[in-house]
Amino acid sequence: MTLDDLRGLIRTIPDFPKPGILFRDVTTLIGHGAGFAAAVGHLAARAEADGAEVIAGIEARGFIFGAAVAARMGLPFVPVRKPGKLPVPVLAIDYALEYGTDTLEVDPGAVPDGARVIVVDDLIATGGTALAAVELLRRAGGEVIGAHFAIDLPELGGAERLRDAGVRVQALLAYE
Ligand code: PRP
Ligand code: ADE
Repeated sequence: MTLDDLRGLIRTIPDFPKPGILFRDVTTLIGHGAGFAAAVGHLAARAEADGAEVIAGIEARGFIFGAAVAARMGLPFVPVRKPGKLPVPVLAIDYALEYGTDTLEVDPGAVPDGARVIVVDDLIATGGTALAAVELLRRAGGEVIGAHFAIDLPELGGAERLRDAGVRVQALLAYE
């Protein structure tokens, strides 16, 4: 299945969750067995090429893609969680979203020192979420080499912000 086929499986919903937002909905992609398998295969091939040793995924949609990529590669998966969910003392960071603010947390013991980490998420918009995850994973001792997404919204500048932070960025699809 080509990347263009995958594009056809993503649904666009105007004005969700707020007026003016064009919501790129991956539930229709993950609801298509062959399409989801192909997306995970493409992401895993790129993570392999970047030399990933650990896959980190950002709650919640990043868990769907990240855990599937990690399992396919036989690599450890590190969950970057929304607040109050991890049962241990955490590293935490606040960040701005395209439509609001939130906090992310990670278990400081989850990443082996110096491990080559790839962050996986469904989508990058402003990059606030991914940058916060990168910062946390670095504080936890990981060498964050890349961040891979199903979808990039380049007009919102997130990929560029991540590259400025020394992270290699890849996305299967871009939506102008
Ligand atoms: C969405 C998406 C990314 C983030 C991208 O998650 O899954 O994680 O926004 O936006 P940014 O690049 O502007 O930071 P959301 O916070 O909506 O949470 P969800 O995965 O729980 O739906
Ligand atoms: N997360 C942040 N911006 C988004 C968008 N436009 N569509 C889907 N998820 C998003």
